[in-house]
Amino acid sequence: MHVALTGATGFLGLRLLRRLLDTHRSVTVLAHAGSGDALQRIIRFFELTGSPEAFTAALPDRLRVVETDLARAGLGLSGHAFQELADGIGTLWHSAGSINLEGDLAELRRTNVEGTRHVLELAAAGRLRPRVHHVSTAFVAGARREGVAYEDELDDAHGFENAYERSKYEAELLVHAWSKEHGRPVLVLRPGILVTDLPPHPDLPSHPLQVVERILRDARHAPGPGTPALRADARPRVRMVGHALGRLNLLQVEHAAEVMVRLAGRAPSGGVDTYHVVHDRDVSVTTVVEVLERLVAVSVELVDARPDTPSALESLLDFYPGMTAYLAHRRRFDDTRVRARLGPSAASAPVGAGYLRAGLAARPWTVPAPPGATADVSPPVHRA
Ligand SMILES: NC(=O)c1ccc[n+]([C@@H]2O[C@H](COP(=O)([O-])OP(=O)(O)OC[C@H]3O[C@@H](n4cnc5c(N)ncnc54)[C@H](OP(=O)(O)O)[C@@H]3O)[C@@H](O)[C@H]2O)c1
Repeated sequence: MHVALTGATGFLGLRLLRRLLDTHRSVTVLAHAGSGDALQRIIRFFELTGSPEAFTAALPDRLRVVETDLARAGLGLSGHAFQELADGIGTLWHSAGSINLEGDLAELRRTNVEGTRHVLELAAAGRLRPRVHHVSTAFVAGARREGVAYEDELDDAHGFENAYERSKYEAELLVHAWSKEHGRPVLVLRPGILVTDLPPHPDLPSHPLQVVERILRDARHAPGPGTPALRADARPRVRMVGHALGRLNLLQVEHAAEVMVRLAGRAPSGGVDTYHVVHDRDVSVTTVVEVLERLVAVSVELVDARPDTPSALESLLDFYPGMTAYLAHRRRFDDTRVRARLGPSAASAPVGAGYLRAGLAARPWTVPAPPGATADVSPPVHRA
């Protein structure tokens, strides 16, 4: 079955693409129109992450790039191009979206909700009745900060920390309605926060913690208009709302992609099958804070509420509300279904301070061996 993927240039999408190319001779990439040369960006990722030259050289033949815009009806394609695309797809992976935690709801709805609607319309139009694999987020659980979030839950009873969470929740509602209306199965994959130990690189997409580190560093270096620059050896105190017993679910992005592709290989129930693709051990907020403190010369103090008189630096950080909300979370994501399907192999190696530091600290780039690297780089025989 021919497979198509949205969001293939993204932090997760690149890893999904890597996995899909293990078992598919070719993949259709539904790239973001007007957002740079998707093929070159993808090739660059594989070069930087150590894929053999013969593999990257074969990518232009193995990838069919179709420029699309999630936010536009028919994905911005002509009626003919839309139908032709739909008819050629056997499996449709939808990983594209906006993960902007500060974004406004209208904008996020256009990409994440209307975008999902347009992708589902593509799946509905396909004569092969393509299987749909929708990438959501564990954070549809919303603003519930304690307790356990289960895979079969989908409600807005606790509200949301930000418009991103709400938009992903609304996208899942659409998926449920679509599955019911068309009598079609959908796989919904809800990852936790995805991380890597590859250092930041200008040609690679960032992950959420890298964004947080950058914001903290920028604020530390330019603490605001009218405020004197800090001495290089200063370590200013930053009060951030958070909980000393808070914890975050951080999962290696390569592992998340592997688990997702394995889940996609399971027989569907016929309706919506939802899985929490999460780590079985959370990382404490204090570990994350310590890692950030070592990288950026600040001293973070977790407090219960926003300070009444914030410093210039604290005010700058307030511009990123998506960040601080999570430092107060103590909930756990239940992944019983994933473990029931995949057994102990669903578990990944621990994510510790060293791993996080490696993925945040700028350092000279060395090409790593790609995960599961083998000497054989010939395109695989079509298997799925
Ligand atoms: N990263 C995480 O920690 C995390 C955690 C939980 C869930 N998720 C979910 O995982 C999925 C992938 O996230 P990610 O980390 O890979 O995000 P990302 O790095 O920001 O990538 C987003 C992808 O979506 C594409 N895209 C954005 N707007 C588009 C549009 N209007 N039309 C077509 N394509 C568009 C981007 O293309 P361009 O790059 O060309 O703009 C990019 O390929 C998302 O659905 C997200 O909600 C991510």
